[in-house]
Amino acid sequence: MRLDKFLVATGCCTRSVAKKQVRAGAVTVNGQVPKTSDVNIYEGADAVTYCGAPVVYRKYTYIMLNKPEGVVSATEDGRDKTVLDLLPPDVRTRGMFPCGRLDKNTLGLMLLTDNGELAHKLLAPKSHVGKVYKFKSKFPVSEADAKRFEGGLTLEDGYETKPAKIELMGAGDEGLITLVEGKYHQIKRMLEALDNKITYLERLSFGPLTLDTALDRGQWRYLTAEEISALESHGQKDKL
Ligand code: URA
Repeated sequence: MRLDKFLVATGCCTRSVAKKQVRAGAVTVNGQVPKTSDVNIYEGADAVTYCGAPVVYRKYTYIMLNKPEGVVSATEDGRDKTVLDLLPPDVRTRGMFPCGRLDKNTLGLMLLTDNGELAHKLLAPKSHVGKVYKFKSKFPVSEADAKRFEGGLTLEDGYETKPAKIELMGAGDEGLITLVEGKYHQIKRMLEALDNKITYLERLSFGPLTLDTALDRGQWRYLTAEEISALESHGQKDKL
């Protein structure tokens, strides 16, 4: 694999930055400073450093995105901008997809990856991966409704939700919701089952991942090595 591609694949930088950094002498390959990116790298065999730090090759790419309003969590869409359209073309490689879905008007943490096996594991209903959302509702949620919410509700299609968690704040019309499942429009439908309505929804965490507050809406970054291993070892059920 070419050196610039290798630097992109390992999450160091984008292709244009990689080329500049190689020319600037910020990259070494087996102790040598190559003049251009036209060098073949054998992953796992060649020792590469970037800005003085060793570069660890990873087979898969993992990205955290702060999803803005108005984009859809799909790989392509005939009408709307997708979460993948927010990535530069060299990062938006074939096989990248959003791990789970957020509605078009829901904001916040979205994991994008090309690791289908891990995504499948994280999304499997039996994995019970916890997701925390910040919400605002049209009307305050009463203590009685919060109890019903936490016990599991029957949605309009007859689906019985699993127990969830709701933490009310302020006047009770905002707070945090934790789900361990992810049915279509689940939170909106749960609030509707309480004759209420969601007016704002933002995902703050997904399993062990927490939305990086340094990311503005629409911005993304690669996951850190710690975040990747936390996701990989996240096989156990989340407890509410
Ligand atoms: N529940 C919803 O209703 N929408 C989302 O985007 C996520 C959870």
